[in-house]
Amino acid sequence: MKSTNAILHVMNVSKRYLLKDVLVDISFSVRPYDFVIIIGPSGAGKTTLLGIIAGFEEPDEGKIEFLGRDIHSLSDDELAEYRSKHIGFIFQNFNLIPFLNALENVIVPAVFSGVKRKIAIRKAKKLLTKLGLSDKLYNYPNQLSGGEQQRVAIARALINDPELILADEPTANLDRDNEQIIMEILSNIARSGKSVILVTHKEYLAKYGTKVFELVNGRLIRR
Ligand SMILES: Nc1ncnc2c1ncn2[C@@H]1O[C@H](COP(=O)(O)OP(=O)(O)OP(=O)(O)O)[C@@H](O)[C@H]1O
Ligand SMILES: [Mg+2]
Repeated sequence: MKSTNAILHVMNVSKRYLLKDVLVDISFSVRPYDFVIIIGPSGAGKTTLLGIIAGFEEPDEGKIEFLGRDIHSLSDDELAEYRSKHIGFIFQNFNLIPFLNALENVIVPAVFSGVKRKIAIRKAKKLLTKLGLSDKLYNYPNQLSGGEQQRVAIARALINDPELILADEPTANLDRDNEQIIMEILSNIARSGKSVILVTHKEYLAKYGTKVFELVNGRLIRR
């Protein structure tokens, strides 16, 4: 059954690659204030699930309803616009644009959704400073460490204040201090009424979740 104030419904999603069932009949809903944490080992299907939720990939079965719309029924342009306005995706491999510096990378989703460049830059500087990167604003990705690139990718996902943040191992490259800072930032975002889904193989991050699941043999199990 659908809960009425949920913003996201993942409905009976299955995904197969070749002959392998990666995701099997996955259903869950996400509401404002939820910090959903999904734990699973490497290869469990975590990135695949987030990619389907964001509309980067099609499920074999099932559907994703986000803010009342079946996202896989949107055209590519509609989906891109929708995603940039409402979803912040923190990619496992960062996906930074190599010929843009840190600041320029962060403002991309804002400028794309119509925010004035000057305003976007002001906001991006604030975010990057909060993430400890005030002295790296003009560095290009290849002039940043893995952990610094990860934080630029996080700032980029937050710039539009999205309703939903999808975080794929967002602390994989960070030391414990920076990991804690990021987890607290994401917790605070959920507490402010947004929703966060974070996937990770790190068991000890479960304590931050308001709803915790495990991905086991392609199935999602509530803890
Ligand atoms: N495009 C693809 N074609 C074939 N198999 C794929 C494809 N993408 C993913 N897979 C397979 O699906 C499974 C799940 O991959 P996925 O990237 O979702 O795992 P993950 O849980 O994110 O792992 P990790 O923790 O290592 O990032 C893996 O066995 C992977 O090899
Ligand atoms: Mg992954």
